[in-house]
Amino acid sequence: MAQSKQAPSGHERIETSNVLMIVLILVAVAVGGLVEIVPLFFQRSTTQPVEGLKPYTALQLAGRDVYIREGCYNCHSQMIRPFRSETLRYGPFSKAGEFVYDHPFQWGSKRTGPDLHRVGGKYNDEWHRLHLISPRSLVPESNMPAYPWLETAQVDPATMAPRLKALRTIGVPYTDAEVAGAAEAVKGRSELDALVAYLQVLGTAVK
Ligand code: HEC
Repeated sequence: MAQSKQAPSGHERIETSNVLMIVLILVAVAVGGLVEIVPLFFQRSTTQPVEGLKPYTALQLAGRDVYIREGCYNCHSQMIRPFRSETLRYGPFSKAGEFVYDHPFQWGSKRTGPDLHRVGGKYNDEWHRLHLISPRSLVPESNMPAYPWLETAQVDPATMAPRLKALRTIGVPYTDAEVAGAAEAVKGRSELDALVAYLQVLGTAVK
């Protein structure tokens, strides 16, 4: 049966025009994205630090930079999800307010190794030192790389004050005294000391 020729309806015009289709998809995605994302910038629960959260000390901050440099995030997440299987294994699930001083945050999603968000206080310092120098001496089946050079590499004190200042410009409330004392606080400390100090504070703001 022959179809009668009709002027295309509104929707047919969109579906038969690549340009119109692309433009309208972009508009729909942009509006949807903004509606979901923008409120997060103004919600207290995502922008305010949880009670008891302190900015990293100079030594912890140096350790955090080692963590990022060595790519620990390639195997470890720092984000405990609100599921029973996760909270039973790792402890209380992560809250957004625990990360407001993390620039950039280390949430991640790759878990070749366990989540580290609440590893602070789980082991003593000596355990971490041995484990980082030689993971298989403590966990024979571990496939985590060894990081023996961290023991002899020194944290450079001269770089610390600028690192704290840079974080202060984006909202981390470091005092002048903390910035002034940053170099002294890491003097003579190895990168291993710093990394262990960082690991030991992870997730400890929430009891
Ligand atoms: C190739 C993947 C990989 C990389 C990279 C890696 N890890 Fe691991 N990590 C693991 C695995 C697997 C385990 C579990 C076995 C073990 O304890 O060694 C683990 C365990 C750990 C644990 C013990 C966690 C717990 O709750 O028992 C800590 C702490 C840790 N890693 C820290 C680090 C740090 C710090 C770095 C970077 C310097 C790092 N890891 C890099 C794979 C990795």
